[in-house]
Amino acid sequence: MTIPLIIDTDPGVDDAFALALAVRSPEVDLLGVTTVFGNVSIDHTTRNAQRLLALLGSTAPVARGADRAMGEISRPDARLVHGDDGLSGKALTLPVNDRIDARDAVEFLRDTIDASAEPVTVAAIGPLTNIARLLDTHAGRIGRLVVMGGGIAGGNVTPTAEFNIWSDADAARRVLAERPVLVPIDLTRRCAVDGAWLESLTGEVGTTLEGLTTRYREFYLEANGIDGILVHDAVAVAEAIKPGILTTREHLLDVDTSDGDGRGSLVPGAYPVDVAEDTDVEALRAFLRDRLSV
Ligand code: RIB
Ligand code: CA
Repeated sequence: MTIPLIIDTDPGVDDAFALALAVRSPEVDLLGVTTVFGNVSIDHTTRNAQRLLALLGSTAPVARGADRAMGEISRPDARLVHGDDGLSGKALTLPVNDRIDARDAVEFLRDTIDASAEPVTVAAIGPLTNIARLLDTHAGRIGRLVVMGGGIAGGNVTPTAEFNIWSDADAARRVLAERPVLVPIDLTRRCAVDGAWLESLTGEVGTTLEGLTTRYREFYLEANGIDGILVHDAVAVAEAIKPGILTTREHLLDVDTSDGDGRGSLVPGAYPVDVAEDTDVEALRAFLRDRLSV
């Protein structure tokens, strides 16, 4: 039995690895991709999703989502990390694909969940605006929700907040109430892949993905002095594909939605959340490499 999967994403270099992993995994049936603002604008994240699916040979529909956070001004994007186009300046080297679903992301999510005979897994790997809006009508009706986001011991966009949560803190707080599996940067940082791993990717998809990392890799070299990248979103999608590949433990959490310096931070709270805390890192790296190479 394959797992029906929808990915909500803001591609983004690590999102590209996550999409490739999903398309190349027989365990899942990718029902669609919904896009959201985040790493770059909604125009760029949507075009990037379309072109990445064409590269991957996937006919999964793409539905365009939110261009800004719920009820607040848009926050800075992450073009310094992913490049102005979201894919290290290489987006236009990918195959053209103009197919777009007539529905917006939330309508697509609602209709697809309602039409599925099996419970649908949603992997949310960008800001959570679309997912929060989905929950206005579909609370309790997502089969499984896996979210890449948050930092338990600290953040990446501020000392305490992680980018996806920080980009729409109000939406993130609403989504926490849905008891997601949360894959925080505390774990994704331990799953970093180095230059040798990237250069070990083979085949058209593997070598193209490696080519999309140039700006992303430069950012991490400049920031950390190491040659390697964080494939945050691929770690989360690995859990959507192979439930249990990550070890989780329940935390009682909330999100700081104040206007203070802590905005977007995970804080102790009342929402039970299954937080991914551990994995066999070497086995995960091998799993990703094997799936992304031919
Ligand atoms: O903090 C990491 C997350 O923010 C990842 O999803 C990355 O793609 C960015 O969206
Ligand atoms: Ca992302």
